[in-house]
Amino acid sequence: MSVAATVPALLPTYARTDVTFVSGEGCWLTDTGGKRYLDLLGGIAVVSLGHCHPAPLAAAHAQLDDLWHTSNLYGTEPMIRFATLLSERFGGGARAFFCNSGAEAVEAALKWARKATGRPELVALENSFHGRTHGALAVTGQPAKRAPFEPLKPLARFATLNDVASLEALVGPQTAAILIEPVQGEGGIHPADAAFLAAARALADEHEALLVFDEVQCGLGRTGTFFAWEQSAVRPDAVVLAKGLANGLPIGVLLVSDGAPDGFVAGDHGSTFGGNPVVCAAACAVVEAIDSDLLARVTAGGARLTAGLAALPGVEEVRGRGLMLGAELDRPAGPVVAAALEAGLLVGTAGDRVLRLVPPLTVSAEELDYGLSILHEALA
Ligand SMILES: Cc1ncc(COP(=O)(O)O)c(C=O)c1O
Repeated sequence: MSVAATVPALLPTYARTDVTFVSGEGCWLTDTGGKRYLDLLGGIAVVSLGHCHPAPLAAAHAQLDDLWHTSNLYGTEPMIRFATLLSERFGGGARAFFCNSGAEAVEAALKWARKATGRPELVALENSFHGRTHGALAVTGQPAKRAPFEPLKPLARFATLNDVASLEALVGPQTAAILIEPVQGEGGIHPADAAFLAAARALADEHEALLVFDEVQCGLGRTGTFFAWEQSAVRPDAVVLAKGLANGLPIGVLLVSDGAPDGFVAGDHGSTFGGNPVVCAAACAVVEAIDSDLLARVTAGGARLTAGLAALPGVEEVRGRGLMLGAELDRPAGPVVAAALEAGLLVGTAGDRVLRLVPPLTVSAEELDYGLSILHEALA
C-alpha cells in the first residue's frame, strides 16, 4: 500500500494512501477493489456508532425529505432538540453555539472567553491540539504546527500537562480562560490527572478565569462517560465538542455551562451552516444512542484492548481511557500502520512512535481481538 504522491486535483495537505473506500457498515469498510478492512480508527474518532448506523442514517434521511437549511435567523426543530439534549447531558441550563468543526468550536470558545471576561490571555498546554485555524492554532502547544503561521493573534501561554506548579505560574488576573483536553489526542494520547483538572478548576475560580475543556476527540462516550470530565468530577465552564457528534456529518459545538456568563450578544458570532437541521437530526440520534449500555461496552472494550495492546511485541506503554488508546512503540509507528492497512486493518498514529486506536464505540470483542491479531503480525 503506497502513499499517493500527488492527486492533481487536491492541494497536498495530507499524506493520503492510495486506498479509496466506497462503502462502510459497522466497523468495516470496503474499497474500490472489493477488499474489506476492519476500521479501528473510526474516521479518527468520528464514526462513533459505526459506519452507516441505522439510527442517525434514518434520522438524516427523514430530515433530508423535510428541510435542508434555513439560516440561523430562524429556528429548526432538530437544532432546538439537539441543543436541549446536550444541555440535559451537561446537567441542565447549558447553552449551545453550533458550527461545523472542532477548530470552529475552539474559535467560538476563544471569542466567548475574551468577550465574557474582557481579558486577553489564554493558558493552554504544551503538546495540546485544538485545530488548524489561526486562533485555534495559537493555543496549540506544538511549536512545529504553530511556527510557520506566527504571529498568531491570541496571547497564549503554555503550561505542562499534569504539572500543577506550571499552571499556577501562568494563571493570573489577565487570564481569560484555561483550555485543556481532558485526554490529549493528537499530542500522543495523554490523559490529564483528576488532581490536575481540580487544580485548574481552583485556579480559574481564584482568578475569575473560565475553565474550558476541549472534548472534540475525548468527548461523547469515547472514554466511557458521556463527557470525559465526568470521570474527574471537575465541571468546566464550557466544553467544545465535534468529531463524533453526528457520526461523520460535520458539526461542532461550544456548550456553555449554566453558571457561566452568556458572553456573546446577538451579532458577536455566527456560522452560516451551524446547526444545520439534517446534521442536527443525525446528532440527536447519536446522543440518544450513547446510553449506559454503550458506555459500559466502551469501558469493557477499552480494558480488553488495553490488555491486548500491552501484550504485543514492541509495545512499551499503553495510555488512554475507554476506546481512546495510544500504544507507545519501540519503533516508528508509520510502517506498522502501513503494514496493518495492507493486511486489512485501519489504525492511526498520534506522534512518531504512538499507534492510535479510536474505533467505533460499538466495536465487538471479536473485532478487537481480530484487530490485535493483525497488529501482532505487523509488529512481530
Ligand atoms: C482535541 C481537538 N480539538 C480540536 C480539533 C480540531 O477539530 P477539526 O479537525 O474538526 O477542526 C481536533 C482534531 O483532531 C482535536 O483532536
